[in-house]
Amino acid sequence: ASSVGDIVDAFLKPVTKEGLEAISSRLLAQFETGLAKEKHDGEVKMLITYVHNLPSGEENGDFLALDLGGSNFRVLKITLDSENRDISQVDSKFSISEELKKSDQDRLFGFIAESLNNFKKENGITSKLPLGFTFSFPVNQTSLTAGTLIHWTKDFKAANCEGNDVVKMLRDASDARKFPDTDIVALVNDTTGTQMAVGYSDQDCHVGVILGTGTNACYTERLDAVTKFNGDRSQHDKVIINTEWGAFGDKGSLKDVITEFDKAFDSQPEVENGGSQIYEKMISGKYLGEIVRHAMLKLINGGVLFGGKSSDVLKKFEGFKSSYLSDIEKGECMDVLKNKCGLDPVTEQDCEYVTQICRAVSTRAARLAAAGIVTIVRKMGREKKCTVAVDGSLYKLHPEFRFRMRAAINEMLPCNGVIIKESRDGSGRGAALVAAVAKQ
Ligand code: BG6
Ligand code: GLC
Repeated sequence: ASSVGDIVDAFLKPVTKEGLEAISSRLLAQFETGLAKEKHDGEVKMLITYVHNLPSGEENGDFLALDLGGSNFRVLKITLDSENRDISQVDSKFSISEELKKSDQDRLFGFIAESLNNFKKENGITSKLPLGFTFSFPVNQTSLTAGTLIHWTKDFKAANCEGNDVVKMLRDASDARKFPDTDIVALVNDTTGTQMAVGYSDQDCHVGVILGTGTNACYTERLDAVTKFNGDRSQHDKVIINTEWGAFGDKGSLKDVITEFDKAFDSQPEVENGGSQIYEKMISGKYLGEIVRHAMLKLINGGVLFGGKSSDVLKKFEGFKSSYLSDIEKGECMDVLKNKCGLDPVTEQDCEYVTQICRAVSTRAARLAAAGIVTIVRKMGREKKCTVAVDGSLYKLHPEFRFRMRAAINEMLPCNGVIIKESRDGSGRGAALVAAVAKQ
């Protein structure tokens, strides 16, 4: 692909309605493989969360929550008031530096423990409140309160964490600093937190989706369908499954969708997990800017854009931020290219071309995400009535993403009863709700 039209086609051709149906059937096959056996050679992990029910709405009391893995790390105190069906919260947000992401177990978990300890002091919390920990990475859980980090995603790289128990790493870091004991009663993924948060007031909420830095989904599955579950089946008939759908495509399922630009960005040395999380890399916020940057670089080299002249910003890894895709689709293309990317000269034609590319990349992302949601809704047989809880910066901040995703869902499922509900800061609240259910 060397003209703008070719590039737009390369992004959009594989995601026609027929293309999405083909992708959806491959994803469904991967779901089945993941549910069948503990050890399998499929692409998606289909992790058992040990969360079996949505909150009933009867939950009460004060809880703490930690939330690691999105654009901000959060500490929260959450108060559940069943009488008024109300959730209130006090929270602190911290950004996790690139350096901390790539540090080691003691420093990363030490930072979390310290933040929690400071938060308790600042808010006068002296009692040992039950805590829910949202940890938004693939975790192999053996119970609601124990699970090992399988591997990092989203460019986290802290040493000595993979293969270790997440709750224990936090306890160890806290003990080493002689902080008072915490009562960690639930370890949850952000998808599950999101589903629970919306499920608090909507019993039809059977899916939780994150469209943020990364992407992932969880859903309520019949325990019968989870062949690999070897826990006690007498107590429950369903369980929430964390699909870890971001890894879809890691063994070739998406090879007809991948473009040269996806490959070019993923093979850079700065990318910590090259060759994995393929579906996530085509959809989520952390990566869209890099895909567009590589498409632009190709057109600059061919003399099609900016008179063949690049800029320092554009030459740098992640120099073209994913938030620029939103700005550009809001009509701020000239400002982004000139003032944020330092490009000169920029013509109206350049702007039109770059806008087309941004639109193609985010449309592909939205349509791929729609195919994932439709696959889940169909698998549950809930096309007629189902609430899907969604959270994440891409969904919230991109001006067009949600409409494109909705349109693609409707193309694939005419006359559906799928309701998409946005959950605000859902995962922390959801973790507190899981903690509350666990405490009952
Ligand atoms: C937040 C959750 O609301 O959404 C986080 O509480 C989650 O845990 C996040 O990871 C996803 O969004 P982003 O855009 O911050 O990655
Ligand atoms: C990554 C993580 C996953 C998380 C998602 C969204 O895909 O592996 O656990 O849910 O990002 O934050």
